[in-house]
Amino acid sequence: MSAHTPDLAVPACDFTVFGGTGDLALRKLLPGLYQRERQHNLHPDTRIIGVSRHDLDHDGYRDLVTQALFEHIPDDQLEAGALHRLVSRLHHLRLDATDPEGWDGLHSLLKDTPGDGAEETIRVYYLAVGSDLFGPVCERLDDLGLVTPQCRVVLEKPIGSDLASSRVVNDAVGRVFEESQVYRIDHYLGKESVQNLLVTRFANIFLEPIWNSRWVDHVQITVAETLGVAGRGDYYDQAGALRDMVQNHLLQMLCLVAMEPPTYVGGDPVRDEKLKVLRALTPLTGADVDRFTVRGQYTTYGEEIGGPSTTETFVALRAEVQNWRWAGVPFYLRTGKRLATKESTIEVVFKEPPHAMFPHSEGVTTPNRLTIRMQPDEGMQLHLTAKHPGPGGIRLHPASLDLSYDHAFDERSPDAYERLLLDVMRGIPTLFMRRDEVEAAWAWVEPILDQWDRAGVEPVRYHPGTNGPAAAATLIAREGRTWQE
Ligand code: BG6
Repeated sequence: MSAHTPDLAVPACDFTVFGGTGDLALRKLLPGLYQRERQHNLHPDTRIIGVSRHDLDHDGYRDLVTQALFEHIPDDQLEAGALHRLVSRLHHLRLDATDPEGWDGLHSLLKDTPGDGAEETIRVYYLAVGSDLFGPVCERLDDLGLVTPQCRVVLEKPIGSDLASSRVVNDAVGRVFEESQVYRIDHYLGKESVQNLLVTRFANIFLEPIWNSRWVDHVQITVAETLGVAGRGDYYDQAGALRDMVQNHLLQMLCLVAMEPPTYVGGDPVRDEKLKVLRALTPLTGADVDRFTVRGQYTTYGEEIGGPSTTETFVALRAEVQNWRWAGVPFYLRTGKRLATKESTIEVVFKEPPHAMFPHSEGVTTPNRLTIRMQPDEGMQLHLTAKHPGPGGIRLHPASLDLSYDHAFDERSPDAYERLLLDVMRGIPTLFMRRDEVEAAWAWVEPILDQWDRAGVEPVRYHPGTNGPAAAATLIAREGRTWQE
């Protein structure tokens, strides 16, 4: 093993989920752990402890989780043996994170470690609760003596609601945990195709010479969803699309496209390079915000959340990375709910050849484009111009080289959380955000929020099932470009 090769063995863990009966735990975390259980990745001594305010005993929790697994795991992946193994790891503790009473149960459960003893068991605290509770929970854990160097804490996004509040949260967590023990999750980094972007860029040579402003015309990053805010209205109406998606998922993807090669793919080198990109983003302030951002809201949003609101459910914006490689290349970002399709893609659009040399080919060629599809059907497509077969002259035709994960690899593509949960247990931080990255992302996003607020920018309406407001098309059309739909 080289000095940089992580140890892939998964140690025994006490995996405690605060928010253990919540939507994230039941829809993503426990199904993710189940899938890893099926693959025999979990250590036999690992326990999973759900903490919530619900009055459930261990059996009640086991029933609730079993029901959720039946709901979220496809039938052909439900295996009695794996279900039984996972469910027998489960415990539940009733606890109100804001109330100092009632923590004794957690204390005695965690002190009573099976297997080789407390020193060997890694404690993971997964905080699937609002970030205002991160500080109080960490403090309680510390008071109870439940924080040792073996412990890790996982923080769900968004951390805070602006730069100042994220600093407050990070400071509170940082008083209890070392930065190396903190895993700030952005599940987009766990998606196979997002990781494959790193591999495509850095385990191959062919892209590197053309991956810059000389050859790349622009980049588009789209995360479109068909769902509304289904059951998450309280959270979402406070957050909105800029905080919920752009500050984290979309900016992280932008970083992976724009970053320089790290010295090796490991925690700090990757995060150092992403941080440089975030810090090189041209600030959007004042009139630039009005010109380069679009705020939208679908027409039925108010009905869905039970009252009028000015929260945005759609954002489109134009960013620039001010450095040697990318100066002058626009990065167009957009995301929204209740759109026509559920689709997440990165499009790297290259420049046109300098001269149309094939007779009658003017206006027929389309620029080369690399599409990284995160969902659905994870994969990658390189769009080219090819010769249409036939003897009648040279006719040009668009064609593509297509890498579909489903076809190329005869394996189920794991959900992002599966990968990330194992990485926490193994102690591999590469795909998690460091504090300085989160803060740099807030520092870029915050002036946009401020300007919207100051100028009273109301979201423009769009109809559910469309591609969002017309203003998003205008944003990019003004510069002679179009969104790839
Ligand atoms: C979450 C957001 O982080 O990502 C949600 O809070 C959003 O609002 C979700 O729906 C999208 O994730 P995915 O993996 O379904 O694209």
